[in-house]
Amino acid sequence: MISVDASKCTRCGRCIADCIVQVIHRGKDGIPAVPEQFEKHCMHCQHCLAVCPTGALTCDGHAPENCAPAGPLPGDALMMNLIRQRRSVRTYKQENLPPEVMEKLVESLRWIPTGCNDHRLAFTLVDDIAKMEPFRARMRKITRFLIKSGILRVVYPGSKRFENALLDGKDFVFRNAPHMIVVSTPKDAPCGKFDVSIALTQFDLYAQSLGVGTCWCGFAYYAFTLNRGMRSLLHLPRGYKVGAVMLFGPPAVEYSRATAPEPYTVIRP
Ligand SMILES: Cc1cc2nc3c(=O)[nH]c(=O)nc-3n(C[C@H](O)[C@H](O)[C@H](O)COP(=O)(O)O)c2cc1C
Repeated sequence: MISVDASKCTRCGRCIADCIVQVIHRGKDGIPAVPEQFEKHCMHCQHCLAVCPTGALTCDGHAPENCAPAGPLPGDALMMNLIRQRRSVRTYKQENLPPEVMEKLVESLRWIPTGCNDHRLAFTLVDDIAKMEPFRARMRKITRFLIKSGILRVVYPGSKRFENALLDGKDFVFRNAPHMIVVSTPKDAPCGKFDVSIALTQFDLYAQSLGVGTCWCGFAYYAFTLNRGMRSLLHLPRGYKVGAVMLFGPPAVEYSRATAPEPYTVIRP
């Protein structure tokens, strides 16, 4: 809930105007407050905290002095470079990221936007290369079975050309990545199917700004979704389902230029 320092509040009303769920009203002396009967409707988005120009408002125990002040942004040219130069990295150095880089990545997760500000996303983070081995080992077993039984060729007719490499243990799914992040969401999350993609898109761009290689992993998503044994390795909370998977780590490949992708269809009604 909010508390307002009356000595700092100018009664400008910005917190009231910016409250999407309209729970903030003027109380005594025009000071903003949330009437008790509205408290349950608060989305805890902290817009009131962010918008207050004088730092008069504390929200859910978070004081303005504990929030980063508005700082310089990358600007459109640098953002565009990041967007153009983000590549799916499929070759990694066989080492862990420095712990301080890992911590920056973990810290960034707090600012992932979700529908209705639902902060129930859960992340399974493989932060040590040795901990990827159980995933790879189980995947090797499953792949072997899929090839030997002929199922792989039925579901993916083009797989014939990979079969020998796969049987030799090529890590086609996890790409020998040292790290992996899997985002899961409660089955009843109002916007779960969007939240998970936004989560890893944001992670992806921030990671690449730090020089970390990343790769979306649809194969692993299906492995976790379809195979209970694989899924058990994720230690998901009860009632959660896998949303999306990203591999990451120090890249062992460099790209000399951006790509020149075909434009998508843009409809302007
Ligand atoms: C939802 C999704 C799933 C993907 N799954 C895989 C995957 O399982 N393995 C892989 O190597 N690349 C995967 N990719 C990477 C795409 O192949 C890649 O984004 C695309 O070829 C464009 O290349 P770029 O990301 O370097 O621009 C996936 C990408 C997305 C968005």
